[in-house]
Amino acid sequence: MIDFKYSQDTWASRKLASDQPEGATPIDPNESNGLLLTHITTQAELNRWEQDNIVEALVWIDKTKPENILNDKFIRQLHKRMFGNVWRWAGQFRQSNKNIGVPWYQIPVDLQNMYDDIPVWIQTKNESPEEMTIRFHHRLVWIHPFPNGNGRHARLVADIFIENVLHGSLFTWGKHDLSNPGKNRSRYINALQEADNGNYMTLLEFAKS
Ligand SMILES: Nc1ncnc2c1ncn2[C@@H]1O[C@H](COP(=O)(O)OP(=O)(O)OP(=O)(O)O)[C@@H](O)[C@H]1O
Ligand SMILES: [Mg+2]
Repeated sequence: MIDFKYSQDTWASRKLASDQPEGATPIDPNESNGLLLTHITTQAELNRWEQDNIVEALVWIDKTKPENILNDKFIRQLHKRMFGNVWRWAGQFRQSNKNIGVPWYQIPVDLQNMYDDIPVWIQTKNESPEEMTIRFHHRLVWIHPFPNGNGRHARLVADIFIENVLHGSLFTWGKHDLSNPGKNRSRYINALQEADNGNYMTLLEFAKS
């Protein structure tokens, strides 16, 4: 069972910051102190606990089939559902700057602009469901609302958006694990970097592959 004690000087607070794959958000000591599971001693164990937590979120999504997702309440609630067994700060916006993402104090306004823009994209029908979903995914990871878990959260948000809101076909995201270093992750990160420069085609092709 999950141990809900806060950890002060855990493995995570000493080691996690130095152990992140390419294109990941380094975790600062304040954040790694938010690890709720004091017994975790390896990155692999942490990954497994997070993955189990995400499976619970997937069950919740399957049951509730949310459509009203363009708001802070849903965006935060989903992050909490995905990571709330593992991290004390799950569902809370970050309060420090990262190597990726907008300045932390801009997060609420940038998210609101995004929530306001997306219904306009849908109404104007200039783009396919897949193109809109890719732009949404990239915009969300570009803002980078949370201390960690942004990639997995924004991929799930994209899946929910395309399935429940646009009724398009689900992405396969390269079909291989994206969280661990490797060829698939490199393709994904390179495609995001192209999207940073306004070219979304590589990311779209990747997501459909
Ligand atoms: N240049 C970039 N532009 C936009 N987004 C980026 C860029 N580089 C990385 N990202 C996003 O940031 C994510 C990493 O952030 P974070 O560590 O918070 O997420 P995560 O869910 O823990 O990671 P992962 O996706 O590896 O499981 C990547 O998965 C990717 O979605
Ligand atoms: Mg990460």
